[in-house]
Amino acid sequence: MRPPPALALAGFCLLALPAAAASYFGLTGREVLTPFPGLGTVAAPAQDGAHLKQCDLLKLSRRQKQLCRREPGLAETLRDAAHLGLLECQFQFRDERWNCSLEGRMGLLKRGFKETAFLYAVSSAALTHALARACSAGRMERCTCDDSPGLESRQAWQWGVCGDNLKYSTKFLSNFLGSKKGSKDLRARADAHNTHVGIKAVKSGHKTTCKCHGVSGSCAVRTCWKQLSPFRETGQVLKLCYDSAIKVSSATNEALGRLELWAPARQGSPAQDLAPWSGDLVYMEDSPSFCRPSKFSPGTAGRVCSREASCSSLCCGRGYDTQSRLVAFSCRCQVQWCCYVECQECVEEELVFTCKH
Ligand SMILES: *[C@@H]1O[C@H](CO)[C@@H](O)[C@H](O)[C@H]1NC(C)=O
Repeated sequence: MRPPPALALAGFCLLALPAAAASYFGLTGREVLTPFPGLGTVAAPAQDGAHLKQCDLLKLSRRQKQLCRREPGLAETLRDAAHLGLLECQFQFRDERWNCSLEGRMGLLKRGFKETAFLYAVSSAALTHALARACSAGRMERCTCDDSPGLESRQAWQWGVCGDNLKYSTKFLSNFLGSKKGSKDLRARADAHNTHVGIKAVKSGHKTTCKCHGVSGSCAVRTCWKQLSPFRETGQVLKLCYDSAIKVSSATNEALGRLELWAPARQGSPAQDLAPWSGDLVYMEDSPSFCRPSKFSPGTAGRVCSREASCSSLCCGRGYDTQSRLVAFSCRCQVQWCCYVECQECVEEELVFTCKH
């Protein structure tokens, strides 16, 4: 039996994986996940001029803008990525006091909270995912289907199956973000670390899928390709990482003569192993409560909550208002001969709870 996805993913943050070269991420410097103007009203990417214009609309560094101009299809992918990351963040935090609202985003990104860590991770994950998908969907000129060796993937192409190109997307991403490996700034190191957690979360969901071909399931030919899991699963992984994020401080590494992220000792790992594991989200400051409006969030007044599950924590002890409203739904449906279904409309009272001011 397959465990439910959440359980299957639960161990992710506990995996000790080799620390990889992380790089600072910011789609737009310090401004990740901002929805870009004109979403959905894009001119066809095939038109060169339109593509260049889109690159100019994005808030990118000069170097990133150059890369954008050189790669038709990239601007659109960047916007897809920002949108994907934002929606996922809002979904994962729908029942939390901080609900990933855009209001206060800039304040958060300047600090070192758990929420900041999540934002960095979910942005880089979304970009990695969107790029790999754009390659396999043929929306980019410089990349195509996944061609990892040993996967018969070239054969898979003949069957019209195109694997998501994670190899290209991670390579492009590290170039796009630039390396700040040697940075002395602790914040930059934490951001880079969390960025990499996002990329790793996407990698962990890159799985081989196979399909049989042949007369009635004889499987005379089997083709396999690599496919990314739905981004919802990646979001779930990252939310678990957020829940178990590790507070770090800095320590001077005598051997290297520079500041390093320092994680508290944990069970089962050698005492001298002080670096946070590469699967852990790290943060430096305890978060505010997010109960009241502040420069980090609009507060929780007016938030809809569930009386059984979330009202007590979401409303921060201020209590909640109860309103009743009528909702219409289809009911007493009957199949009529022939061939349609006829339903009546029923009305039901529903209670809506919202946090008091
Ligand atoms: C987040 O909460 C604020 C109120 O605190 C609300 O105005 C906003 O619509 C919520 N956003 C989402 C995406 O649920």
